[in-house]
Amino acid sequence: MINVDKLRLDFPVLRNNPKLAYLDNAASAIKPDCVINAVNDYYTRLGVNVHRGVYKMSYEATDLYEEARHTIAKFINADFENIVFTRGASSALNLVAQSYGYAFLKPGDEIITSELEHHSSHMPWVSLAKNIGCKVIYVPLDKEGRITIDAFKACLSNKTKMVALTYVSNVMGYITPIKEIIKLAHEVGALVSVDAAQAVPHMKVDVKALDCDFLSFSGHKICGPTGVGVLYGKKELLEKMPPVEFGGDMADTVYKDDMTFKEAPYKFETGTPIIASVIGLAKACEYIEAVGLDEIAKYEYLLKEEAIKGLKEIPGVIIHNETCETGIISFNIEGVHPHDAASVYDKNDVCIRAGHHCAQLITSWLDTIGTIRASFYFYNTLDDVKKFVSTTKEASEFFNMF
Ligand SMILES: Cc1ncc(COP(=O)(O)O)c(C=O)c1O
Repeated sequence: MINVDKLRLDFPVLRNNPKLAYLDNAASAIKPDCVINAVNDYYTRLGVNVHRGVYKMSYEATDLYEEARHTIAKFINADFENIVFTRGASSALNLVAQSYGYAFLKPGDEIITSELEHHSSHMPWVSLAKNIGCKVIYVPLDKEGRITIDAFKACLSNKTKMVALTYVSNVMGYITPIKEIIKLAHEVGALVSVDAAQAVPHMKVDVKALDCDFLSFSGHKICGPTGVGVLYGKKELLEKMPPVEFGGDMADTVYKDDMTFKEAPYKFETGTPIIASVIGLAKACEYIEAVGLDEIAKYEYLLKEEAIKGLKEIPGVIIHNETCETGIISFNIEGVHPHDAASVYDKNDVCIRAGHHCAQLITSWLDTIGTIRASFYFYNTLDDVKKFVSTTKEASEFFNMF
């Protein structure tokens, strides 16, 4: 069971703002002391570069950085050599298209994606398709806005070479049946790049059990620092993929007219890496593991169900994803622009997100200019839910007076 009162004490933002209801966790999670302290410790005691210095402080920084790779790998049941550090999920998802896509896809090849994607998941493939003449196919969503196995099967053919799908939608919160999709994609020889930015922080993700080819996530959504993300890739794929950035640390031998590179994952990490954020992310993974991902998933769902119960009592509230199995609610208030509503939440110290959530295809599919999104994490409380529901009522009443 989540001991929310105890866990909240770990978060300075919550300790310092007792009135705050922070419900924008799908955008970024707040940070516990252990993560802040790990980052602080690196800067306070070391602050030096890795993989280069021939002195004790640099060796220690390198050890911390590489130990972090092992910790983060273990968190998703991978090995250290599968883990490429990037600037975030966006950079990780782009890297797959920039490297694998441009090296191995050909004109006429098909890429399957969906209208549920965050821009970072489908845009790299749309851009690649335009440049090299591939075809992008969108899995038709069912009437709730879900990706189903049958709809996916109908898109799949031996022309399919890449599948780029979200594991959990950042707008609808639906869980994609990704394991079955990966199996089907592999049967026709296609690879699958999974956008797990909204999955890894909230449920147990096991890359070996999924058998995914690539999987991306961000540090900041899992209580880690900003500026760091992870690309998991199968070893044999990372090995044959070319680097897309050139420079310091990734090179092996450099000549005037040629060059060789380090092995994967190092050939993808050009220049001084995001040392402090990687160390902080490893701490965040340990912290989340100790809280317990199964407990987190159950607890968020419970909060989301309570919130939905409350929203359903308010006239004019249109909930878009009532059946979602995670902790995300997307809705509109009839006659109220989401940004106008957001100002009422802000006045009451309730942090929500309003807009298209960098996923314009799904807000268009919903036929709305944007939604109001509340997203829960394990440190939220039933009091946060109450405050959120009463503020929704206030916003609805206030704007519908005019
Ligand atoms: C599903 C999904 N994919 C990708 C991203 C991009 O993550 P980042 O902005 O950390 O690169 C996000 C961020 O909101 C997301 O929700």
